[in-house]
Amino acid sequence: MERTLYTLTQPVFLIGFMGAGKTTMARRLARECGLICADTDRCMERKYGMSAKELYEQAGEEGFRQMEAETLEEFVQGEPRIIACGGGIVMGERSREIIRTCGFAVYVHVTADESAERISNHDSRPFFHSMESVRLVNQVRVPLYEELADVTVDSSSRTSGRMAYEVKDILVKEGILCPVRK
Ligand code: S3P
Repeated sequence: MERTLYTLTQPVFLIGFMGAGKTTMARRLARECGLICADTDRCMERKYGMSAKELYEQAGEEGFRQMEAETLEEFVQGEPRIIACGGGIVMGERSREIIRTCGFAVYVHVTADESAERISNHDSRPFFHSMESVRLVNQVRVPLYEELADVTVDSSSRTSGRMAYEVKDILVKEGILCPVRK
């Protein structure tokens, strides 16, 4: 059976807390629809040659948010793509502005407790030294995710693959993801 390919009319940002499944969803959606996907963490890791957590620790919150904003700026300049955003990107004012004005934001909702269950290696992320800190950080960010969200999807008890299909349907209905006529 022939596969339907799609194009995006604007960039799509996947935002949400760590462990929501944004990276996997972006890859699945891209593979399924024949789109380009991008990931702020992976791009920065390649550029600076260290893990996102190491970068965060070295550059500090402000420096890290600035790098994220620069990365997002590059992403929105090219062909529209599915962009998996680092969980804390909403803490950066410049990144918020880009997300608000340059594309469509999908908030992938996950609770702090589910996030902790899903992330197998807590050492790979900042803030995971205690559950109290994870909950607190999430609490601060939820209003920002909500404010930016054009649509919210709930990732509880769902696999990233299933979420990708859900997001695909939403994007088609919104007229953002369009089948390519052959
Ligand atoms: C961070 C989330 C991480 C990564 C960095 C900081 C955060 O991304 O950008 O470690 O501040 O929440 P994921 O959401 O992909 O884990």
